[in-house]
Amino acid sequence: MTEVAIVGATGYTGMELVRILSRHPQAKLAVLTSRQQAGKLYSQVFPGLLQAVDLPITNPDFRAIAKKAELAFLCLPHSESQDAAAALLKLGLKVIDLSADFRLKSAAVYKKWYGPHRYPALLKEAVYGLPELYRQKIAKARLVANPGCYPTSVILGLLPLAAKGVMEPEVIADSKSGVSGAGRSPQPSLHFCEIAENLRAYNIYGHRHTPEMEQELSAAARARVRVTFVPHLVPMNRGILSTLYVKLKKKLSLDNLFDIFRESYQDEPFLRLLPPGTLPEVAQVRGTNLTQIGLSLAPSGREAVITSALDNLVKGAAGAAVQNFNLMQGLPESSALESLPLVP
Ligand SMILES: NC(=O)c1ccc[n+]([C@@H]2O[C@H](COP(=O)([O-])OP(=O)(O)OC[C@H]3O[C@@H](n4cnc5c(N)ncnc54)[C@H](OP(=O)(O)O)[C@@H]3O)[C@@H](O)[C@H]2O)c1
Repeated sequence: MTEVAIVGATGYTGMELVRILSRHPQAKLAVLTSRQQAGKLYSQVFPGLLQAVDLPITNPDFRAIAKKAELAFLCLPHSESQDAAAALLKLGLKVIDLSADFRLKSAAVYKKWYGPHRYPALLKEAVYGLPELYRQKIAKARLVANPGCYPTSVILGLLPLAAKGVMEPEVIADSKSGVSGAGRSPQPSLHFCEIAENLRAYNIYGHRHTPEMEQELSAAARARVRVTFVPHLVPMNRGILSTLYVKLKKKLSLDNLFDIFRESYQDEPFLRLLPPGTLPEVAQVRGTNLTQIGLSLAPSGREAVITSALDNLVKGAAGAAVQNFNLMQGLPESSALESLPLVP
């Protein structure tokens, strides 16, 4: 049994981690932190968890956390995670960070998108927590950088094509996300009246997840891949659907395309390659750690549209973090992650 802390347990990813870990056979919730809710029971703040998680919420005090937990999940805003990770690692804990603070390998690239990094050595040490790419490294890591939600949907949709060298290095990723992707802190642009019956793109050419996608796809392709990333906000609570437009270096048949993905993903516990003619839907992955992938080929055989769907709070955040936890602790990779979609 591993005693775990969730730092930032009252945000959306922290809540999802509590939900999943409260049913994990080999994890014990030992510390749940929030500055604003410290002193209350978790089940007072979230009455749905009455009699399931009645733990007191505490302030994020690293020494106190180290006395009770061996591993910490950090569900904090980027930049805030850096000091927490450094302090907890120093106190001997393993850390899974859900923010963007340790995802980029280059301190210069981090600085361009987020500001200066205070722990460049930890940036180098951290393992990018996408099991489909780095399963063995994650198992040995003490600091795992859990991937972003949009990057997971885009990278998993393109990885087999990048690794096989059949895709041109410029791709378009058009992604639609539910509003929980923006976190739980109130913002005027996220009010019900701004979101309901509305659909908007944002941060075109400026979204911070772009370098993360380009870093991992370039590494897989062993060549520079450029992603034109266009995110959208959709009036739904959870889910991401990414539509990925790819030009192919040589003509492929639909069978060729399916073979490339099957070869890469046949042993992956959470990837579902849909049969021809069936396309991914966010409603079919809600509440699960699954990513659905659909393949469509242009009649010319030189262009493909890949679609991928995941739940941003599960495979895009807390579920991936638990998958990484399972790997780091030598547990079955699917422990506590086998739930099926909640439809409708
Ligand atoms: N939402 C998603 O779909 C998603 C997906 C993947 C990754 N992520 C990333 O995961 C991280 C958490 O996201 P979220 O959506 O869960 O955020 P959130 O809903 O805003 O929650 C943030 C949590 O951190 C606490 N907190 C905030 N500032 C803090 C500080 N300076 N020191 C200590 N605690 C602090 C908050 O509680 P108090 O203010 O009470 O302390 C709250 O519990 C972010 O970096 C985000 O980018 C989010």
